[in-house]
Amino acid sequence: MLCLLQGEEGGLQVKYGPFLFLGLLCCMAASSLTFVLAPQMQIGGLEQTNSVADLPVMYPSQPAGVTHQGAEVYRANNCAACHTLQIRPRNLGPDLQRGLGFRYSVARDYIFDKPVMLGLQRVGPDLSNVGARMNPSTILLHLYNPRATVDHSIMPPYPFLFEKRKIGRVASPDALVLPATLPPLEKGYEIVPRKEALSLAYYLTSLRQSSYLFEAPPPQKAKPVATTDTNAPAATTNSPAK
Ligand code: HEC
Repeated sequence: MLCLLQGEEGGLQVKYGPFLFLGLLCCMAASSLTFVLAPQMQIGGLEQTNSVADLPVMYPSQPAGVTHQGAEVYRANNCAACHTLQIRPRNLGPDLQRGLGFRYSVARDYIFDKPVMLGLQRVGPDLSNVGARMNPSTILLHLYNPRATVDHSIMPPYPFLFEKRKIGRVASPDALVLPATLPPLEKGYEIVPRKEALSLAYYLTSLRQSSYLFEAPPPQKAKPVATTDTNAPAATTNSPAK
């Protein structure tokens, strides 16, 4: 391959191989600096911080072990194929206008996420704040059969995260309360979430990016328009017509 790049100049053989190698090395070094080292220096050392609104509270909070298990179930079932975990700023997308978030997402929101699952496509609503709008029992019912809560939902059901079992001496406190819109179960049976479903519901209810931070402050109140701050001539209604 390299011999193709050899040419002749005044009878001397010029070998381009080393130049090609150096060029490639420079490209690799420049892209590593720009896309790996620079972001690492900018945001690699982010830590928990005080929220702007309620000072003693540290944000983000340390996740519980079951939250990690739920995040793994989220990953294993590829929920990120349809759901994102990132609220875009007002000028980059309508997430805030749709009421999906309190503020836009920042790098600090993800410091405990390993791996970060920002998502691929916004087929379903963004889930960054789903914990603020849904409770665990609604989430579980929605996972068992999305059409139980939303007519014509295109989200796939996840019945394998649940178990249909005969009611023992007492019914399980976790058993789903199926709405009348779903076909009724045989008498004496109940649908109980498996531990994967419970940890996934726990993970989803923990998703809440509601603390305002220095880098994501609360929305500013509109300032009153100053009338005396300018020396431009005042606008008049009877200005001469041109
Ligand atoms: C094929 C795409 C698709 C996949 C995969 C998917 N969802 Fe959804 N999801 C949707 C759509 C579309 C909606 C909106 C309609 C609805 O509420 O059912 C939705 C809604 C939701 C909601 C309700 C959000 C709200 O604000 O009302 C939750 C919670 C949810 N999905 C969780 C999950 C979880 C957890 C997984 C993985 C186990 C998952 N979804 C997989 C498409 C998907």
